[in-house]
Amino acid sequence: MTLEQRTWVPAMVPWRASDDGFVTEEVLDWYGRFARGRPGAIVVEATGIRDVPSGPLLRIGHDRFLPGLRQLVERVRQESGGHTRLLIQIIDFLGIRRRPERSKYLERFLQVNDRHRQALGDPALSDDAVRERLLALDDDQLQQVLSEREWESLTMGQRERVTDTHLPHIAELPLVLPELFASAAQRARDAGFDGVELHYAHAYTMASFLSATNTREDGYGGPLENRLRLPLEVFAAVRERVGREFPVGCRFLSEECIEGGNTLEDSTRIGVALAQAGMDYLSLSRGGKFDDAKQPKVGEAAYPYTGVSGFECMPGYIADEFGPFGRNVEPTAAIRSAIRGAGLAIPVVVAGGIHTFTQAETLLAEEKADIIGIARQALADPDWFEKVRSGCGGQVRMCEYTNYCEGLDQKHKQVTCNLWDRLELDEPGVRRSRDNKRRLTAPEWRRE
Ligand SMILES: Cc1cc2nc3c(=O)[nH]c(=O)nc-3n(C[C@H](O)[C@H](O)[C@H](O)COP(=O)(O)O)c2cc1C
Ligand code: SF4
Repeated sequence: MTLEQRTWVPAMVPWRASDDGFVTEEVLDWYGRFARGRPGAIVVEATGIRDVPSGPLLRIGHDRFLPGLRQLVERVRQESGGHTRLLIQIIDFLGIRRRPERSKYLERFLQVNDRHRQALGDPALSDDAVRERLLALDDDQLQQVLSEREWESLTMGQRERVTDTHLPHIAELPLVLPELFASAAQRARDAGFDGVELHYAHAYTMASFLSATNTREDGYGGPLENRLRLPLEVFAAVRERVGREFPVGCRFLSEECIEGGNTLEDSTRIGVALAQAGMDYLSLSRGGKFDDAKQPKVGEAAYPYTGVSGFECMPGYIADEFGPFGRNVEPTAAIRSAIRGAGLAIPVVVAGGIHTFTQAETLLAEEKADIIGIARQALADPDWFEKVRSGCGGQVRMCEYTNYCEGLDQKHKQVTCNLWDRLELDEPGVRRSRDNKRRLTAPEWRRE
């Protein structure tokens, strides 16, 4: 695969798939709009590899999704005049529930056991009596009685981890994931995508296997070589299925930015191992973990972009003195340099707060990265690439890093940018959000 230019729109979920995971007209419009700006490559949003209901998340876990995905490939080809390469990011994730109401959790969800009876000082209590006693406790007392995980389920919402190996479906992840990823990658190839990106980043299953917090004791956790085992087995299965000619890359974290998480040293070893295994590119993100997510409101789910690690992933304009720009550059450059040191030439994509031509060009000239990922700036102005290329950089609608778009993502609302979503609303043919208040794609650029 050859890119016409070293620009890249990283995966961004816009919440436009149908409730059963199919490509919709809105999905086609969204990617078609990016394609008109003609970036070097676009990576389609995180797309679920399992054939299970996942709300309006795009899916690729069955052949019935193929016709829609083919249309998507065709649309991007047409709108970019064949100039933009199209990849798709494929993802697995574990279960997470919304934060429950206190009373509901204690009356219904909590599984009462002897530990609770002991803590309450009466081994003869019935389940109902335990629940009643727990309901009457204040928060401090309740926290003493519940286990750490139960307290977390109550205050944050229940969340599965790759270390929950007492649950059969978690224990068997190493058995099922290689095949699930391989089948999804094959569908990506059959649909006509130019390549596939394995999602090994942020808060999701594969990143959790790679994480230093993974203490599984079945050979897939603990020391780094064990944590790498499943990601490498998944990649081997994908490669075997799609063949050497089909580009397969992955996105992973330059640093997890959480206590006890992967440091740059871990990630450098991970990067070299993935490159040695034969990945065709590596795309670096950072942070974005559940571990330090803020407490959600009752009825809402934890969102992995709310804590310090979330800020590192999608830095906003309210920042420390370093500011929101290019926070991922130096760690990415270090990983790239180690990969080059190991004699491997694979391209490395950097992303995170990159928004001006000068900044992007300097990173390339200084060999900090090989390809420049521009996510929110491309959302703010999908014509960034065409404007910069044609000498109209002064007309770029600059991202203000307010994270209004991220707020919509958090609520699973159709993602738009506040710099354009109320402009020219009455233009004929403009598709609007469900609440009818916002346009779903940026207005066309009329050259001044
Ligand atoms: C609305 C939204 C959705 C995102 N969805 C994904 C995703 O599906 N997969 C992924 O790897 N990153 C996702 N990201 C993170 C971006 O790809 C990117 O890494 C991040 O926004 C930082 O780059 P930027 O500063 O250029 O925006 C998303 C970001 C936003 C704003
Ligand atoms: S909503 Fe804000 S952060 Fe998001 S793309 Fe637009 S200007 Fe940038």
